[in-house]
Amino acid sequence: MNDSADKKVVLAYSGGLDTSVMIAWLKEKYGLDTVAVLVDAGRASGLDEHQQKALDIGAVEAVVVDAKEEFARDFILPALAANALYEEKYVLVSALSRPLICKKLVEIAQATGASTIAHGCTAKGNDQVRFDLGIRSLDPSLEILAPAREWNMTREQSLEYAAERGIPIPLKKDSPYSIDENLWGRTVECGPLEDPWLEPPEDVFAVTTAPALAPDEPVYIEITFASGVPVALDGRQMAIVDLINEVDQLAGSHGFGRVDMMENRLVGIKSREVYETPGALALIQAHKEIEDMTLPRELIHFKRPLEQKFADMTYNGGWFDPLMDALRAFMAETQKQVSGTVRLKFFKGSCVVAGRKSPNSMYDFGLATYGGEDAFSHDAAKGFCELWGLPLEVWARKAK
Ligand code: ARG
Repeated sequence: MNDSADKKVVLAYSGGLDTSVMIAWLKEKYGLDTVAVLVDAGRASGLDEHQQKALDIGAVEAVVVDAKEEFARDFILPALAANALYEEKYVLVSALSRPLICKKLVEIAQATGASTIAHGCTAKGNDQVRFDLGIRSLDPSLEILAPAREWNMTREQSLEYAAERGIPIPLKKDSPYSIDENLWGRTVECGPLEDPWLEPPEDVFAVTTAPALAPDEPVYIEITFASGVPVALDGRQMAIVDLINEVDQLAGSHGFGRVDMMENRLVGIKSREVYETPGALALIQAHKEIEDMTLPRELIHFKRPLEQKFADMTYNGGWFDPLMDALRAFMAETQKQVSGTVRLKFFKGSCVVAGRKSPNSMYDFGLATYGGEDAFSHDAAKGFCELWGLPLEVWARKAK
């Protein structure tokens, strides 16, 4: 470790141009030595290279944190229990990973004695809010720097700044897109997508097959849940990270999971977002189905609007808000009976539920059937309707 008299900053490092430039910039502007932190929340690539690159640029330490399990257990599973979708479409890929990254940054700041944390977010996005609020919730004594929010460098200026200081610049022609990816999916913004009228070009997609090119035969899979947690795929017990990855690949290979939406950002901007989230969407669909089979009506009807609140709070950077603790406790309580198996059918971009079963099923054939085995009390129905409709009848007699 470096001279402890030097002030340290813990930087959320991505290996990209901006956060690479930041290592030099933080030293020049604030005299800070960088501890670069790379958090692997799933599907990260080139971590070792990035780690070495941070050190080459001048970071005093570069730490890679494998947080896949923790991300699945403490962030994805609570979100799945809440069927969390922002604006009914977005599974919160980035919104869920930012609080995880904050946790790691704060832990490392505390362990290394750094008094400052820096992140690479710009002023226009939601991620800056999630970092700032997350860090302040976890350790209000830490200072936060967001260089990209203050330096106002264009891409050209960043490249020039990097070239002057010998910071490696991307070799291959840069993708026009801004991409964020983890175990729960992939987000794509910018470039040609900024025209909402333009259909996303095929080069946007990396984990889904174009529906038209997907296999001509449908495929069925069975997902088994135990108290709200997916535990098996086609009868094979699997660790959660592997299960999510496998469902994601399979669903994506059948062209399912592309989302193209107009999204309301917290900072007031409408933005056009493209997501590839086959696994997350399939798991949410299957999970909801088991809930619909195992939970009573009042509980489901009360839970659905709270799911939206959960998604909004997560999207808006409130993961560590005490309201979220309360919502997570509520969601957890609702999951005890949510066990069973769902059969999903994927075919050329679609995912439908083809069957469901559960030891806790509230579906009662005798009560539901119109056939000869009917056990429903037809006699009681007449009186039920009479009293249920009584206020309406009284109203109708009086109303003009
Ligand atoms: N619009 C999404 C969100 O706010 C995706 C953000 C992606 N972040 C990124 N740095 N590319 O959650």
